[in-house]
Amino acid sequence: MTASVDNTPGLHNSLGSGGAGLATPETTTDNAWPAEFPRLSRVPTHVAIKMDGNGRWARARNLPRIAGHRRGTKNLRPILEASVQFGIRIVTVYAFSTENWNRPQPEVDAILTILGEAIKQETPELHANGVQIRHLGSLEGVPTHLAHRIQEALALTCHNQRLILNVAFNYGGRAEIVRALRGIIRAGLPAESITEDTVSRYLYTAGQPDPDLIILPGGEMRSSNFLTWQSIYSEVYVTPVLWPAFGVYEYYQALAAYSQRVRRFGRVLPETTGNHQPTGAPGAATPNGAADLAPG
Ligand code: FPP
Repeated sequence: MTASVDNTPGLHNSLGSGGAGLATPETTTDNAWPAEFPRLSRVPTHVAIKMDGNGRWARARNLPRIAGHRRGTKNLRPILEASVQFGIRIVTVYAFSTENWNRPQPEVDAILTILGEAIKQETPELHANGVQIRHLGSLEGVPTHLAHRIQEALALTCHNQRLILNVAFNYGGRAEIVRALRGIIRAGLPAESITEDTVSRYLYTAGQPDPDLIILPGGEMRSSNFLTWQSIYSEVYVTPVLWPAFGVYEYYQALAAYSQRVRRFGRVLPETTGNHQPTGAPGAATPNGAADLAPG
C-alpha cells in the first residue's frame, strides 16, 4: 500500500493551471531582491535542483560521506531564502531517488535519519515563512516514524503560498509516470480522451508549472530519473560546484544564465527576434506549455 500524498487533480493545487494565486516573477512587486546582485530580466517560476556531490565534498575533506549529506542538508535553507528574495515560486529538490535504496545500508539509514531531523528542525520556520512543503514520491517502504513526520509537515504547511518546496523523496520519474497511468486507468477514462494534460494531472506535480530551470551541481550531466515527464523543455544548468558548496552566489549565476537563454519550445524564431521570449510562447507561468505548439 502506498501512503504517499494524494496529488489527484483538484486537491490543494493552489497554483492552478494558470498559476492562480501566485504572481509570476515578472509581475511580482516583491522588493526584497538582494542588493548585492544585479536585477535579472527574467526569473524562473519553478527551479529544480539535483542536490548532487555530497559524497565527493566529504571525501575531499577526508570526512565520511554522511558528513557531506549533513552539510548538503544545511545548504538548503539559504537557497530557499534566496529563492523567495529572487521571486521564485516553486523549488523542487531531489533528496532521494528510488535507486538510492541500493546504496550501502548505513548510508541509506543515515540519509533517512538526516531527512527526519531536518524535517523536525526546519518545518516550524518554513511554516512561519509561508513555505508549503509537498512530497513528490511514494512513502511505501519508508520507516513509519519518518512517514508520519513527512505527513505532519505536509499537513501543517498545506495552505502556505509564499513558496512551494517540493521534496522529491523516494521518487523516480518513470515510476511517477507508471503511477499516473495506473491512476488514469483506475479512473476509467476513455483512451481517446487521454491527452498530455491528462497525464500531467495525474503526476505528483499536478497543477504546477513544469520546471523552467534544472540545476545540476556536482558536474554530472544526467538527469537521473528526475522529473522525467516535466523536464522536456526545462533549461539545464550544470556546474562543477558540489551541492554542499553551492551557495547563493552560485545560485544567482545559474539564474543569470537562465535569464540569457532563448526558450524556443521546439519552434524556430525569426532571425530578427533576438534573445527574448517568442510572442505567445509558453512562459514561465504557463504549465506544460509546449503542448499547444506544433513540433518544429
Ligand atoms: C547526492 O549526493 C545526495 C543524496 C543522494 C542525498 C541527499 C539527501 C539528504 C541528505 C536528505 C536531506 C534532504 C532534504 C530535503 C533536507 P551524492 O551522495 O550522490 O554525492 P556524490 O555524487 O559526490 O557521491
